Amino acid sequence: MKFFVDTADVDAIRELNDLGMVDGVTTNPSLILKSGRDILEVTKEICGIVDGPVSAEVVALEADAMIAEGRKLAEIADNITVKVPLTWAGLKTCKVLSDEGRMVNVTLCFSANQALLAAKAGATFISPFIGRLDDINLDGMDLIQDIRTIYDNFGFETQILAASIRTVNHVTQSALIGADVITAPPSVIKSLASHPLTDKGLDAFMKDWAKTGQSIL
Ligand code: G3P
Repeated sequence: MKFFVDTADVDAIRELNDLGMVDGVTTNPSLILKSGRDILEVTKEICGIVDGPVSAEVVALEADAMIAEGRKLAEIADNITVKVPLTWAGLKTCKVLSDEGRMVNVTLCFSANQALLAAKAGATFISPFIGRLDDINLDGMDLIQDIRTIYDNFGFETQILAASIRTVNHVTQSALIGADVITAPPSVIKSLASHPLTDKGLDAFMKDWAKTGQSIL
């Protein structure tokens, strides 16, 4: 399973990328706002750090303007993935840009039927939002499972990019179901390393080591 990092914070991306934890990056207008950076400038910098796909999101709502924005974003670097919302205009944009050979990530997906449409429009990635479904008392993981089943039933090649990941359990469940990619904030990726029994075990080892009076170096 591929790990994308869901941020426009270049320092956080660099740190995880140096550890080999980053197969790609996803951004959105809220993350660009959080970064305080110009979208074109920060996206170009991210594309220079990471070899894999870097999603940059259009903000127009009409297809013609979305297509124009998508083409402009795609000029930033070869690894740009144009991110479009799951609306009719977004699906039209997806079809046009994917026919031009560009990578497209269809975002804000909340149903299996939406994911089916995105695959038929040639999406490279579909982004179902797990956490936001959990927020309204639905089970985001059910959606990941349904999309996996439907894509496998018909051999769709669109990759399932599990998004709006808030917890380590979302990562585990996405991996078990067979999502192709997860995108998560740096804090969630880092917390995958944590386990209370690891901390407890290490603490006991350190106490016993101190009692030996030895040193390795
Ligand atoms: O990739 C989409 C993601 O950024 C949304 O996450 O936590 O805002 O629902 P969240």
